[in-house]
Amino acid sequence: MIACCIFDLDGVVVDTARYHYLAWAELARSLGFEFTPEQGEATRGVSRMASLDIVLRAGGMQGRFSAEERERLAARKNARYLEYVSRMTADEVLPGVVRFLGELRARGVKVVLGSASKNAGTILDRCALRPLFDAVVDGTLVTRAKPDPEIFVRGAELAGVRPADCVVFEDAAAGIEAAARAGMRSVGVGGSPTLAAATMRLRSFEGFAFEMLAAGVEPRS
Ligand code: BG6
Ligand code: MG
Repeated sequence: MIACCIFDLDGVVVDTARYHYLAWAELARSLGFEFTPEQGEATRGVSRMASLDIVLRAGGMQGRFSAEERERLAARKNARYLEYVSRMTADEVLPGVVRFLGELRARGVKVVLGSASKNAGTILDRCALRPLFDAVVDGTLVTRAKPDPEIFVRGAELAGVRPADCVVFEDAAAGIEAAARAGMRSVGVGGSPTLAAATMRLRSFEGFAFEMLAAGVEPRS
């Protein structure tokens, strides 16, 4: 039975993963090194401070900054990220997402957001997405980052649904692992080879329907 679907935000509902990357790459450049898109992949689904560590390591600068300086660097990245986000519109919601969320709710399936981002609320409002969710769990409500299952466990609690009746949609390996540790099925979104452990895989929500999810049918890509 599927009573609840929990959606990651960045890279699943909206394409903000590229804004996170651009903001980290600009920070890296200001520190004197390049941060490539390939290196940026490792920050997907990872918390802000853990992402900063990945960036600093890529530039050989790990261990160079005090805790206070690291906070300042992360704040600089976030300010730049928010500049990108403040220009977002509903057009940036990924194809097929709004229709699929509507289909779930029409069938009585609870729709929950489960994002590590502290900026999730801002993005939901910018893109007029908030009314499509029954509950929202974001980085301001949890203390443990994915792959810890806390975000998804909280989501299921808010929806009043058992973990075994939840399906998580994720674009990051850390999120697929978090779903498994929460006792939930998962759908790996976007086609990255790192999503092999997901219960099923999906390139895009375009043409995807609840029947296919319930039957475990992976659309041909
Ligand atoms: C995740 C993103 O959703 O949120 C990560 O995939 C990001 O790239 C993390 O680092 C934290 O986001 P924020 O907006 O709180 O810095
Ligand atoms: Mg993501």
